[in-house]
Amino acid sequence: MQIAPSLLSADFGHLERDIRACEEGGADVLHIDVMDGHFVPPITFGTVVFQRIRSLTTLPLDVHLMVTNADHQAELFAADGANWISVHAEVCPHLHRSLNNIRSLGCKAGVVLNPVTPLSFAMDAAEAADFILLMSVNPGYGGQNFIPSFLKRCETLRSWLDANGLSHIPIEVDGGIKASNARDAVSAGAEILVSGSGVMHGDIAQNIRALRKAGTA
Ligand code: DX5
Ligand code: ZN
Repeated sequence: MQIAPSLLSADFGHLERDIRACEEGGADVLHIDVMDGHFVPPITFGTVVFQRIRSLTTLPLDVHLMVTNADHQAELFAADGANWISVHAEVCPHLHRSLNNIRSLGCKAGVVLNPVTPLSFAMDAAEAADFILLMSVNPGYGGQNFIPSFLKRCETLRSWLDANGLSHIPIEVDGGIKASNARDAVSAGAEILVSGSGVMHGDIAQNIRALRKAGTA
């Protein structure tokens, strides 16, 4: 199991402090939510802020692109040191090409599905992916409630991957993950847990440790 705190819920006035707390708590990777105001309503940050984040940590950076021009943005974030880049199937009609491009830029390539997007979108592209991110909320905001139908979807996808020689592909879950539901997500087959509001408020390091404990209990 890997824990990926989402910096979307960090205190942007104290970004370095919060990144250090993530490191201290044993975060495996930092999740970076890039929103463009088109695919999702808000705008978060682009490469200028990302470059600063990159300079502050050696942890792998997991860039979740919630943008309509994902291929172009993937190139920019890869050039600035992203390690993982995921793109939404809903806005990437040429998904194999998008994933292959990300790999060719030296990054791990992920395909993301919204909560109601058919799993076949990820299944049919799985051989070109290094991980699959299943949203457990509709993307765009931190602090939303976990959508329970994620659990069945995750179980179905995990079984399908294992039955089709793709057991090396991990499933990442994003949205509403907290200590109270981490165990359910892991039992359903999630191996990478994104958590924003669940860990980034209060004692971040302690929250990350508690999430790991809950997920492995
Ligand atoms: C939502 C983002 C998430 C968000 C998660 O669109 O993709 O990564 O930061 O935040 P929580 O854990 O608060 O739901
Ligand atoms: Zn995200």
